[in-house]
Amino acid sequence: MEMKTTAAITGICGWVPPDILTNKDLEKMVDTSEEWIRTRTGIKERRILKGEGQGTSVIGVHAVKGILEKNKIDPSEIDLLICATITGDMTFPDTANLICNEVGIKNAFAFDINAACSGFLYALNVGAKFVESGTHKKVIVVGADKMSSIIDYTDRTTCIIFGDGGGAVLLEPKTDGTGIIDANLKSDGAGWKHLHMKAGGSRKPPSIETVQNREHFVYQEGKYVFKAAVKGMSSVIHELLQKQQLTIEDINWLIPHQANMRIIESVSNLLDFPMEKVMINIHKYGNTTAGTIPLCLWELAPDLNKGDKLILTAFGGGFTWGAIYLIWAIDS
Ligand code: UT7
Repeated sequence: MEMKTTAAITGICGWVPPDILTNKDLEKMVDTSEEWIRTRTGIKERRILKGEGQGTSVIGVHAVKGILEKNKIDPSEIDLLICATITGDMTFPDTANLICNEVGIKNAFAFDINAACSGFLYALNVGAKFVESGTHKKVIVVGADKMSSIIDYTDRTTCIIFGDGGGAVLLEPKTDGTGIIDANLKSDGAGWKHLHMKAGGSRKPPSIETVQNREHFVYQEGKYVFKAAVKGMSSVIHELLQKQQLTIEDINWLIPHQANMRIIESVSNLLDFPMEKVMINIHKYGNTTAGTIPLCLWELAPDLNKGDKLILTAFGGGFTWGAIYLIWAIDS
């Protein structure tokens, strides 16, 4: 019997810029230490996208081109591209449009999703719906951020965490039981107070004062966000497993948003999820916001087998958070 149509990841590519910012480099910029950063966050280094005119679309273009080449797909075959980012090249148009233009995708509609660190999960679930419904056959979902463009490198509480990078996946229809099975996505707008950018939007447009007051950077109440992230991610995963009648033993890999190693360890502890089955690359890239999950998936992909059961999870600005359950579709 043929199963219902699902959206499966059939292609993946990540990209990070070559320039590295190490913990030692940060010691020279703010009052911190290599050891503090490593032990409090798990991060050793992060990438920085340098050069005039280089926006988040650069990351997306590298990742999308990588997929088109590897999967031998002509840009004209893509019929939807969604880009999750909070650091779009411009306020408008959307970075998705700019990526399509650069790679020659002309038959697609394209738009951005702004859900901060949960952006990739939000975009993946939206993209999956277009594939499941049968209206779109080849959908690309990008998660990318140039966090260095909105980070205050005089603020030691934020500048140590974030980095630049991202990735993309191709979604195609499958009827073999693989693909995105379920999603449990949430939001709570009351969380805005604890994680946001103060100026630059319509509420407080840019002015000389907003620049002088350093209001065009990430504002974060780290401790509050930390606790909310642990609670949020562990509860959505728990709900999703229950709904799908799965246990931790059934899951081959947990792929969490990489914001802080201690957040990941706390989630794994609360769920009794063994750390050997948790994907970690925070030490190399830090927190790339919408970029962390596609970067993890891309690095993990060679070790994955068709049929592997994966849980992706994230928490971030909004607040937004969630978890997605999928069955890996690529034969490696
Ligand atoms: O991406 C999604 C959203 N973001 C997150 O999920 C991030 C969540 N938050 C965090 O990862 C952590 O809260 C941080 C890494 C931001 C901060 O770590 P923490 O362990 O929560 O530190 P804290 O804010 O409780 O500060 C502890 C101490 C403070 O000093 P006092 O008041 O105890 O004297 C800070 O001033 O550590 C100090 N501190 C630092 N010291 C050296 C804060 N940042 C630094 C630093 N170097 N970079």
